[in-house]
Amino acid sequence: MYKLIAFDAYGTLFDVYSMAQLADDLFPGHGQQLALMWRDRQIEYTRLVTMSDPSPSGSKYYLPFWELTIRSLRYVCKRMGLLLTAENERLLMGQYAKLTGFEDGLQVLKTIKKRGISTAILSNGSREMLATVVQSNGMQPYLDRVVTIEDVRLFKTAPQAYELLLKAFPVKKEEILFVSSNAWDVLAAKWFGFDVFWVNRLGHPYEEIGDPPNYEGTSLSTVLDVI
Ligand code: LAC
Repeated sequence: MYKLIAFDAYGTLFDVYSMAQLADDLFPGHGQQLALMWRDRQIEYTRLVTMSDPSPSGSKYYLPFWELTIRSLRYVCKRMGLLLTAENERLLMGQYAKLTGFEDGLQVLKTIKKRGISTAILSNGSREMLATVVQSNGMQPYLDRVVTIEDVRLFKTAPQAYELLLKAFPVKKEEILFVSSNAWDVLAAKWFGFDVFWVNRLGHPYEEIGDPPNYEGTSLSTVLDVI
């Protein structure tokens, strides 16, 4: 019934919290907290930029996700009282560029393609960083499109961001299943009108606003059960 399965990138296909290991090598005892706070601040910046100028032509405060990722890393290190040297920033961002994919991701994409359904990424990520991470995980052959919000300069959860999928593929809203591990992303995609699958690896509670997701599972592989 679905013609397109669209995946969020960071956190869903690629493990942002895997940064904790390297962060802990560089700042012993602080890696876990740094990775969590870094992610939160990064998303906070995307919201600030978008909400402060949600114009159809894009936010005048827009900075690419790559840049927001660097700025949020710098902020969090300052906040935690950690000295981020240029070398450590280079190391952390170098790993971020080639984040590890969750182990079942590739197989899931392959299987979806084999079933004749289109696949895509819809991400806040900037074009270049997405190209790099997709390539380093060998996912390119199994993705029909990598859609970035760079085209509208408004981050998720702006409706214009989700709408990009309708512009990129000749499909109707109800023919799309959107998959994300970020509950806020799932929630907003459902508000936009997509059917949604929440990959809830950590057994978190769902948000207390909005409708529950259409589907929920503990890994990417569980997506295959509903298509
Ligand atoms: C993305 C972030 C939100 O890839 O995870 O869009």
